Amino acid sequence: MSRVAIIGAGPSGTAALRAFQSAKAAGAEIPDVVCYEKQEDWGGLWNYTWRTGLDANGEAVHGSMYRYLWSNGPKECLEFADYTFEEHFGKPIPSFPPREVLADYIKGRVEKAGVRDWVKFNHPVRWVEHHEKDDNFTVVAYDVKNDKQTSEKFDHVIVATGHFSTPNVPHFDGLDKFEGRVLHAHDFRDALEFKDRDVMVVGSSYSAEDIGSQCWKYGAKSITACYRTSPMGFHWPDNWETKPLLERVDGKTCHFVDGTSKDIDAIILCTGYLHHFPFMHDDIRLSTTNRMWTPGLYRGVALEKNPRVMYIGMQDQFYTFNMFDAQAWWARDVILGRIEIPSLADMQAHSAEWEKREGTLETDEDLIWFQGDYTQDLIDQTDYPNFDIEGVNKTFMEWEHHKHEDIMGFRNNGYRSLMTGTMAPVHHTKWTEAMDDSMEEYLRT
Ligand SMILES: Cc1cc2nc3c(=O)[nH]c(=O)nc-3n(C[C@H](O)[C@H](O)[C@H](O)COP(=O)(O)OP(=O)(O)OC[C@H]3O[C@@H](n4cnc5c(N)ncnc54)[C@H](O)[C@@H]3O)c2cc1C
Ligand SMILES: NC(=O)c1ccc[n+]([C@@H]2O[C@H](COP(=O)([O-])OP(=O)(O)OC[C@H]3O[C@@H](n4cnc5c(N)ncnc54)[C@H](OP(=O)(O)O)[C@@H]3O)[C@@H](O)[C@H]2O)c1
Repeated sequence: MSRVAIIGAGPSGTAALRAFQSAKAAGAEIPDVVCYEKQEDWGGLWNYTWRTGLDANGEAVHGSMYRYLWSNGPKECLEFADYTFEEHFGKPIPSFPPREVLADYIKGRVEKAGVRDWVKFNHPVRWVEHHEKDDNFTVVAYDVKNDKQTSEKFDHVIVATGHFSTPNVPHFDGLDKFEGRVLHAHDFRDALEFKDRDVMVVGSSYSAEDIGSQCWKYGAKSITACYRTSPMGFHWPDNWETKPLLERVDGKTCHFVDGTSKDIDAIILCTGYLHHFPFMHDDIRLSTTNRMWTPGLYRGVALEKNPRVMYIGMQDQFYTFNMFDAQAWWARDVILGRIEIPSLADMQAHSAEWEKREGTLETDEDLIWFQGDYTQDLIDQTDYPNFDIEGVNKTFMEWEHHKHEDIMGFRNNGYRSLMTGTMAPVHHTKWTEAMDDSMEEYLRT
C-alpha cells in the first residue's frame, strides 16, 4: 500500500485528511495516511496561545492569533461545502465569528470524520528528502512526548504548514533604541496591553487594519498607521491618523518620509510573513512570496519539479477553507490516480497562463474573481460538492462595500449562506461594544 505524509493539521491539513476519509467512506481504497502536527491539537492558527517565542516543547510558536480576534471576512465565504455552519452549530449563526467559534467549526468536521488517530500530535517535522532511486521520501520528525526522533518512508508528501507564522521584519534606523515597546504582529496577543497608549501599526494590509482596530476598540489613546505603497483608505475614527512610511526612530519620536514626526509608545510591525520551510530539502522546497499565483506549483498545488510533493494553502488568501478543500480533493485525486499529471513542459505552460492573468490583476475585485475561478477550476475536476462561487464572489464584494461604509461597523452585517440559502442573523451586540469574544457569548441568542 502506498503511503502519504501530510505535514500540518490546520485548515489545509485537515482538508487533506477529510478528502481521503471521504473517498474511503465512498468505498475507495486509499493509501496509508499519516499526518504530523507540531501542536498538541489540530486547528492550526485557530488555536490560541498566550505564548510567544518558543512553545512548551521549545519549538517556534506557530500561532499568530490574538485575543478578541473575530473573522475579518464573512463566514459565508469560507464555509465548507460538505459541512455547513448550520450542521455544526445546529442553528444559523451571525457572519463574523470570533476565533474560538471558527476553531470549533474546523475541528468539528474532522472529529465527525473520525480521523484523529491518523494524526501524530506533538510531532514537529524536522526534515524531508526525496530519494531518486526509489522515488520516495524520508520524513524525519521529533516525537516530543517520547523524546525520540522518528524516520519513515512515504510515496507522497503534502505540505500544509501555513505561511503566516514567520515574521517579515524590515529594518528601520533607530528601532533598536526605541524607548517604547516594539513587536511584530506575530507576537501581538492582547490589545488591553495598549490601553491609553499611542500605538503605531506599520503596514497597510489585514494585520495593520485589524490590530489597529483592536487596539482602538480596547482603549488605545491614538492609532497611527503608516504605509509603504498605499494607505488602507477607510474612514477611520478621529484618534486614528494615517502617515506615509516610517523613516527612522529617535527615542520615542517616529519620523516619517514626508518629514513629519510623532511620539509613539508602541510600534507593531504588521509587515507580513515569510514562506518558511526549513524542513524541506532544497530540491523540494517551495520558494515564493505571498501572492495570488504561486510560481512552481501546477494548479497551485503540485510541485512542478516533483509532483509527488504537494503544497496546500500557499496562496495569498481571500478564499480560505473551501479553497483549501478544493486543493486537498485535487491532491487526493492525483494521488489516487484519478487525475493525471501532464509533462513538465505542459505543467509550466499551464501555470504560465495563470501567472500571466495574475499580472493583470489590479483591484481587490479582480483578485477575488481570480481566486474564485481558480477554486472552481479545481472543484470541476473532483467530487468536492460544487457550490455557488459567483455567489461567494458577490458576497466578498458586498463585504468590501460594507467595510468602506463603516470600518468599525462592518461586522454588524449578516450574509446569506451559499451552501444552505439561510440568511445569517445579525449579531446581538455591535462589534465595537462586544468585549467578550467567548463562544458561549457569541452563540447566545
Ligand atoms: C492573525 C491571522 C488572522 C486570520 N484570520 C482569518 C480569518 O478571519 N478568516 C480566514 O479565512 N482566514 C484568516 N487567516 C488566514 C489563515 O491563513 C487561514 O485561516 C488558515 O489558518 C490557514 O490554514 P493552514 O492550515 O494553511 O495553515 P495554519 O493554520 O497556519 O496551520 C498550519 C499547521 O501546520 C503545523 N506545522 C507547522 N510547521 C510544522 C512542522 N514543521 N511539523 C509539523 N507541523 C507543523 C502548525 O502547527 C499548524 O497546525 C488569518 C491568519 C492570521 C495570521
Ligand atoms: N481578523 C482577522 O481575521 C485577521 C487579522 C489579521 C490578519 N489576518 C490575516 O492574516 C494574513 C496576513 O496578513 P498581513 O497583513 O499580516 O500580511 P500581508 O497581507 O502579507 O501584508 C503585509 C503588509 O506589510 C507591508 N510591508 C511588507 N514589507 C514592508 C516594509 N519593508 N516596509 C513597510 N511595509 C511593509 C506590506 O506593504 P505593501 O502594501 O507596501 O507591500 C503590506 O501592507 C491575511 O490572510 C489576513 O487575512 C486576519
